[in-house]
Amino acid sequence: MKNKLLENDPSKAVFELGVGRGQLAFYMASQAPETKYILVDYSGIKHKADNKVKNKNAVDIKRIRCPIEHVDASKIPSLTSSTSVSAVCKHFCGSATDYGINCITNAMFNNVPINGFCLAPCCHHRITISQYVGHDYLKAIKIDSPQLISSLRLIASWATCGPPVSETAFVEAIDDGENFKFWSYEKKLILGRKAKALIEFGRVLYLRKVCGFDCRLLEYIDVNVSPENLMIVGVVKK
Ligand SMILES: C[S@@+](CC[C@H](N)C(=O)[O-])C[C@H]1O[C@@H](n2cnc3c(N)ncnc32)[C@H](O)[C@@H]1O
Repeated sequence: MKNKLLENDPSKAVFELGVGRGQLAFYMASQAPETKYILVDYSGIKHKADNKVKNKNAVDIKRIRCPIEHVDASKIPSLTSSTSVSAVCKHFCGSATDYGINCITNAMFNNVPINGFCLAPCCHHRITISQYVGHDYLKAIKIDSPQLISSLRLIASWATCGPPVSETAFVEAIDDGENFKFWSYEKKLILGRKAKALIEFGRVLYLRKVCGFDCRLLEYIDVNVSPENLMIVGVVKK
Protein backbone atom coordinates (compact mmCIF):
# COMPACT_ATOMS: atom_id res chain seq x y z
CA MET A 1 0.00 0.00 0.00
CA LYS A 2 2.96 2.30 0.77
CA ASN A 3 4.06 2.12 -2.89
CA LYS A 4 0.46 2.67 -4.07
CA LEU A 5 0.40 -0.82 -5.55
CA LEU A 6 -2.82 -1.61 -3.68
CA GLU A 7 -5.34 1.19 -3.39
CA ASN A 8 -9.03 1.00 -2.64
CA ASP A 9 -10.22 2.64 -5.84
CA PRO A 10 -12.64 1.31 -8.51
CA SER A 11 -10.61 2.95 -11.29
CA LYS A 12 -7.58 0.76 -10.39
CA ALA A 13 -6.93 -2.90 -11.04
CA VAL A 14 -4.83 -5.73 -9.69
CA PHE A 15 -3.66 -8.29 -12.25
CA GLU A 16 -2.69 -11.51 -10.46
CA LEU A 17 -0.78 -14.22 -12.30
CA GLY A 18 -0.86 -17.88 -11.21
CA VAL A 19 -3.56 -17.17 -8.69
CA GLY A 20 -4.19 -20.78 -7.57
CA ARG A 21 -7.05 -20.90 -5.07
CA GLY A 22 -7.06 -17.13 -4.82
CA GLN A 23 -6.06 -16.70 -1.19
CA LEU A 24 -3.87 -13.67 -1.95
CA ALA A 25 -6.67 -12.03 -3.96
CA PHE A 26 -9.00 -12.75 -1.07
CA TYR A 27 -6.78 -10.86 1.39
CA MET A 28 -6.09 -8.01 -1.05
CA ALA A 29 -9.83 -7.65 -1.67
CA SER A 30 -10.49 -7.52 2.06
CA GLN A 31 -8.13 -4.50 2.23
CA ALA A 32 -9.21 -2.87 -1.03
CA PRO A 33 -12.73 -4.09 -1.95
CA GLU A 34 -13.39 -1.27 -4.45
CA THR A 35 -10.47 -2.25 -6.70
CA LYS A 36 -10.94 -4.57 -9.70
CA TYR A 37 -9.20 -7.97 -9.65
CA ILE A 38 -8.26 -9.85 -12.81
CA LEU A 39 -6.89 -13.29 -11.96
CA VAL A 40 -5.11 -15.70 -14.31
CA ASP A 41 -4.32 -19.39 -13.86
CA TYR A 42 -4.15 -22.22 -16.36
CA SER A 43 -5.57 -24.81 -13.97
CA GLY A 44 -9.19 -25.44 -13.16
CA ILE A 45 -9.21 -25.02 -9.41
CA LYS A 46 -11.75 -26.21 -6.86
CA HIS A 47 -12.67 -24.33 -3.68
CA LYS A 48 -11.64 -20.94 -5.05
CA ALA A 49 -11.49 -18.10 -2.55
CA ASP A 50 -12.63 -15.62 -5.24
CA ASN A 51 -16.21 -16.95 -4.93
CA LYS A 52 -16.11 -16.15 -1.23
CA VAL A 53 -14.86 -12.60 -1.98
CA LYS A 54 -17.51 -12.00 -4.64
CA ASN A 55 -20.40 -13.11 -2.43
CA LYS A 56 -19.26 -11.24 0.65
CA ASN A 57 -18.27 -7.84 -0.69
CA ALA A 58 -19.60 -7.68 -4.26
CA VAL A 59 -15.99 -7.19 -5.37
CA ASP A 60 -15.35 -6.86 -9.13
CA ILE A 61 -13.28 -10.01 -9.62
CA LYS A 62 -12.75 -12.00 -12.84
CA ARG A 63 -10.80 -15.19 -13.40
CA ILE A 64 -9.27 -16.06 -16.76
CA ARG A 65 -8.30 -19.69 -17.31
CA CYS A 66 -5.31 -19.57 -19.66
CA PRO A 67 -1.54 -20.12 -19.63
CA ILE A 68 0.04 -16.74 -18.90
CA GLU A 69 2.27 -17.07 -21.98
CA HIS A 70 -0.88 -16.80 -24.11
CA VAL A 71 -2.40 -13.83 -22.32
CA ASP A 72 -2.35 -10.49 -24.11
CA ALA A 73 -3.23 -8.10 -21.30
CA SER A 74 -3.93 -5.31 -23.79
CA LYS A 75 -7.01 -7.28 -24.88
CA ILE A 76 -8.52 -7.32 -21.38
CA PRO A 77 -10.89 -4.32 -21.14
CA SER A 78 -10.89 -4.22 -17.31
CA LEU A 79 -7.12 -3.60 -17.49
CA THR A 80 -7.00 -1.15 -20.37
CA SER A 81 -9.87 0.91 -18.95
CA SER A 82 -8.22 1.23 -15.52
CA THR A 83 -6.22 4.29 -14.52
CA SER A 84 -3.47 2.07 -13.12
CA VAL A 85 -2.72 -1.63 -12.88
CA SER A 86 -0.55 -3.47 -10.36
CA ALA A 87 0.69 -6.92 -11.36
CA VAL A 88 1.30 -9.51 -8.67
CA CYS A 89 2.19 -13.16 -8.38
CA LYS A 90 3.00 -15.37 -5.44
CA HIS A 91 4.91 -18.58 -5.85
CA PHE A 92 4.69 -18.59 -9.60
CA CYS A 93 6.88 -21.63 -10.28
CA GLY A 94 10.04 -21.76 -12.36
CA SER A 95 9.62 -20.34 -15.84
CA ALA A 96 6.08 -19.19 -15.16
CA THR A 97 7.64 -16.07 -13.58
CA ASP A 98 9.59 -15.41 -16.84
CA TYR A 99 6.40 -15.85 -18.86
CA GLY A 100 4.71 -13.51 -16.41
CA ILE A 101 7.47 -10.92 -16.79
CA ASN A 102 7.04 -11.05 -20.58
CA CYS A 103 3.28 -10.67 -20.20
CA ILE A 104 3.73 -7.61 -17.96
CA THR A 105 6.36 -5.91 -20.15
CA ASN A 106 4.30 -6.56 -23.31
CA ALA A 107 1.32 -5.05 -21.52
CA MET A 108 3.33 -1.91 -20.72
CA PHE A 109 4.29 -1.45 -24.35
CA ASN A 110 0.68 -1.93 -25.42
CA ASN A 111 -0.97 0.78 -23.39
CA VAL A 112 -1.87 -1.13 -20.25
CA PRO A 113 -1.20 1.38 -17.47
CA ILE A 114 1.06 -0.84 -15.34
CA ASN A 115 2.23 1.25 -12.39
CA GLY A 116 4.18 -1.46 -10.60
CA PHE A 117 4.51 -5.09 -9.66
CA CYS A 118 5.27 -7.46 -6.80
CA LEU A 119 6.56 -10.79 -8.09
CA ALA A 120 7.26 -13.57 -5.61
CA PRO A 121 8.65 -16.52 -7.57
CA CYS A 122 9.40 -20.05 -6.42
CA CYS A 123 10.97 -23.32 -7.62
CA HIS A 124 14.09 -21.80 -9.19
CA HIS A 125 15.25 -25.34 -9.96
CA ARG A 126 12.44 -25.45 -12.53
CA ILE A 127 13.44 -22.45 -14.64
CA THR A 128 14.16 -23.23 -18.29
CA ILE A 129 17.18 -21.77 -20.02
CA SER A 130 15.23 -20.69 -23.10
CA GLN A 131 12.61 -18.75 -21.10
CA TYR A 132 14.75 -17.24 -18.36
CA VAL A 133 15.02 -13.46 -18.85
CA GLY A 134 18.12 -12.74 -16.74
CA HIS A 135 20.89 -14.18 -18.93
CA ASP A 136 22.77 -10.86 -19.28
CA TYR A 137 23.49 -10.83 -15.55
CA LEU A 138 24.41 -14.52 -15.37
CA LYS A 139 26.79 -14.00 -18.29
CA ALA A 140 28.33 -11.00 -16.54
CA ILE A 141 29.15 -13.19 -13.54
CA LYS A 142 30.49 -15.94 -15.84
CA ILE A 143 27.53 -18.30 -15.54
CA ASP A 144 27.42 -18.41 -19.28
CA SER A 145 26.85 -21.97 -20.46
CA PRO A 146 23.88 -24.35 -20.26
CA GLN A 147 25.95 -26.62 -17.99
CA LEU A 148 26.67 -23.82 -15.52
CA ILE A 149 23.04 -22.69 -15.51
CA SER A 150 21.95 -26.28 -14.86
CA SER A 151 24.39 -26.39 -11.94
CA LEU A 152 22.93 -23.12 -10.62
CA ARG A 153 19.46 -24.66 -10.81
CA LEU A 154 20.62 -27.74 -8.92
CA ILE A 155 22.22 -25.59 -6.23
CA ALA A 156 19.00 -23.52 -5.97
CA SER A 157 17.09 -26.71 -5.13
CA TRP A 158 19.21 -27.11 -1.97
CA ALA A 159 17.39 -24.14 -0.44
CA THR A 160 14.11 -26.01 -0.27
CA CYS A 161 14.95 -29.70 -0.05
CA GLY A 162 14.73 -29.81 3.77
CA PRO A 163 17.03 -31.46 6.29
CA PRO A 164 18.18 -35.02 5.62
CA VAL A 165 16.02 -37.71 7.16
CA SER A 166 17.77 -41.00 6.38
CA GLU A 167 20.63 -42.64 8.27
CA THR A 168 23.06 -40.76 5.97
CA ALA A 169 22.11 -37.71 8.05
CA PHE A 170 24.40 -39.02 10.75
CA VAL A 171 27.42 -39.48 8.47
CA GLU A 172 30.00 -36.79 9.16
CA ALA A 173 29.93 -34.09 6.44
CA ILE A 174 33.08 -33.12 4.53
CA ASP A 175 32.44 -29.45 3.76
CA ASP A 176 35.88 -28.63 2.42
CA GLY A 177 35.92 -31.53 -0.07
CA GLU A 178 35.23 -31.32 -3.82
CA ASN A 179 32.27 -33.72 -3.81
CA PHE A 180 29.07 -31.84 -2.96
CA LYS A 181 27.34 -35.12 -2.06
CA PHE A 182 29.29 -35.08 1.21
CA TRP A 183 28.65 -31.43 2.06
CA SER A 184 26.56 -30.64 5.12
CA TYR A 185 22.92 -29.68 4.90
CA GLU A 186 23.77 -26.26 6.40
CA LYS A 187 26.38 -25.48 3.75
CA LYS A 188 24.02 -26.55 0.95
CA LEU A 189 21.21 -24.47 2.41
CA ILE A 190 23.32 -21.31 2.34
CA LEU A 191 24.50 -21.99 -1.22
CA GLY A 192 20.92 -22.77 -2.28
CA ARG A 193 19.68 -19.40 -1.02
CA LYS A 194 22.52 -17.60 -2.78
CA ALA A 195 21.71 -19.39 -6.05
CA LYS A 196 18.05 -18.34 -5.78
CA ALA A 197 19.08 -14.72 -5.17
CA LEU A 198 21.39 -14.76 -8.23
CA ILE A 199 18.60 -16.07 -10.45
CA GLU A 200 16.24 -13.41 -9.13
CA PHE A 201 18.77 -10.61 -9.44
CA GLY A 202 19.10 -11.43 -13.14
CA ARG A 203 15.35 -10.87 -13.44
CA VAL A 204 15.60 -7.59 -11.50
CA LEU A 205 18.28 -6.23 -13.84
CA TYR A 206 16.26 -7.30 -16.87
CA LEU A 207 13.17 -5.52 -15.55
CA ARG A 208 15.15 -2.38 -14.72
CA LYS A 209 16.49 -2.30 -18.26
CA VAL A 210 13.28 -3.13 -20.11
CA CYS A 211 10.72 -1.14 -18.19
CA GLY A 212 12.90 1.48 -16.51
CA PHE A 213 11.10 0.98 -13.20
CA ASP A 214 12.71 1.26 -9.83
CA CYS A 215 13.12 -2.50 -9.17
CA ARG A 216 14.43 -4.11 -6.03
CA LEU A 217 14.87 -7.64 -4.73
CA LEU A 218 13.77 -8.19 -1.16
CA GLU A 219 12.84 -10.89 1.31
CA TYR A 220 9.16 -10.40 2.04
CA ILE A 221 8.95 -12.86 4.92
CA ASP A 222 11.29 -14.68 7.27
CA VAL A 223 12.97 -17.66 5.63
CA ASN A 224 11.72 -19.88 8.46
CA VAL A 225 8.13 -19.15 7.43
CA SER A 226 8.85 -19.90 3.76
CA PRO A 227 12.17 -20.66 2.05
CA GLU A 228 10.53 -19.17 -1.06
CA ASN A 229 10.72 -15.69 0.44
CA LEU A 230 12.14 -13.53 -2.36
CA MET A 231 10.13 -10.84 -4.09
CA ILE A 232 10.82 -8.38 -6.88
CA VAL A 233 9.11 -5.05 -6.29
CA GLY A 234 8.98 -2.60 -9.18
CA VAL A 235 7.45 0.87 -9.18
CA VAL A 236 7.37 3.68 -11.69
CA LYS A 237 10.35 6.00 -11.10
CA LYS A 238 9.34 9.34 -9.61
C1 LIG B 1 2.55 -22.84 -6.54
S1 LIG B 1 1.00 -22.38 -7.16
C2 LIG B 1 0.74 -20.86 -6.29
C3 LIG B 1 -0.72 -20.50 -6.21
C4 LIG B 1 -1.01 -19.21 -5.42
N1 LIG B 1 -0.46 -18.04 -6.06
C5 LIG B 1 -0.52 -19.34 -4.01
O1 LIG B 1 0.48 -18.69 -3.65
O2 LIG B 1 -1.12 -20.11 -3.24
C6 LIG B 1 1.33 -21.84 -8.82
C7 LIG B 1 0.06 -21.60 -9.61
O3 LIG B 1 0.45 -21.08 -10.89
C8 LIG B 1 -0.29 -21.74 -11.90
N2 LIG B 1 0.56 -21.71 -13.11
C9 LIG B 1 1.79 -22.28 -13.27
N3 LIG B 1 2.27 -22.02 -14.48
C10 LIG B 1 1.35 -21.25 -15.12
C11 LIG B 1 1.28 -20.64 -16.40
N4 LIG B 1 2.27 -20.79 -17.29
N5 LIG B 1 0.19 -19.92 -16.71
C12 LIG B 1 -0.82 -19.76 -15.81
N6 LIG B 1 -0.82 -20.31 -14.58
C13 LIG B 1 0.24 -21.05 -14.24
C14 LIG B 1 -0.58 -23.12 -11.35
O4 LIG B 1 -1.74 -23.68 -11.93
C15 LIG B 1 -0.75 -22.84 -9.87
O5 LIG B 1 -2.10 -22.58 -9.54
